Amino acid sequence: MTYVTARVEKRLYTTLVIKTLLPQEPLTTLTEHIIYTHHSFTRQELDRLGKLFDNVCSRHGENHQELFEAQKTFYQLKQDLIPHMLKEEQVLFPYITRMEEDAGEGRAIPPPFFGTAPNPVRMMMTEHDTAGDLLQQLRGITNGYITPPDGCVSFQTLYQALAAFEADLHQHIHLENNILFPRAVEMEETSAPDFHKSADEFNEHRCFGH
Ligand SMILES: [Fe+2]
Ligand SMILES: [Fe+2]
Repeated sequence: MTYVTARVEKRLYTTLVIKTLLPQEPLTTLTEHIIYTHHSFTRQELDRLGKLFDNVCSRHGENHQELFEAQKTFYQLKQDLIPHMLKEEQVLFPYITRMEEDAGEGRAIPPPFFGTAPNPVRMMMTEHDTAGDLLQQLRGITNGYITPPDGCVSFQTLYQALAAFEADLHQHIHLENNILFPRAVEMEETSAPDFHKSADEFNEHRCFGH
C-alpha cells in the first residue's frame, strides 16, 4: 500500500468512525475515546511543538520574524488547552460517566455541584471558540503552514506538525460540541427531569461570567 493510499484509507476510516460508529457508542466510551486519542495526542504534540518552535526560531527567527508571533500564539493556545482538558477529565467527563451509569441502572442522579450539565458545557464551548480563533490566527501568521523556500527540514516538520495538530483539534472539538455534549445534556433532561427543572429555576436567578 502506498503512503498516499494509506493516508486516504486512514481518512476514510476516521470519517466512518466519527460519522457512524462513535455517535452511537455509550457516552463513557466516547469520553474514553476523546481522552486516549485526542487529549493524549494534544499533550504529546504541545510538548513536541514547543521544542520544535524553540529550534526553528533560533535558526530562522532572524529572517522570519513571523515565527516569533506564531510561537507566541502557540503558547497562548497551550496555556488554554492544558487546563481545559483537565477540567473535562476531572469534572465534566466523570459526571457524564456517573450519570450514564446511574441512568442505566435506574438510580436517581445526584445533582452536581455545578448546577446542571449545560453550565460546564457552555464554558467548554466558549473555550473551544477561543482555541478555534487561535488556530485561525496561527494559520494566518504561517501563510497556511507553507514552508518558505529557505526553510530547512525542521521548519517543514514544524509546519506539517502544526497542520496535523490543527486537524486533530478540529476533530476533537467536533466530537465534543456536536456529539458528546448534546447527548449528555439530553440524557440529563430525560433521566433527571425534576432535578433539571429545579436547576433551570436556579439558573434563572444566577448571573454567570462574574
Ligand atoms: Fe477535550
Ligand atoms: Fe474540549
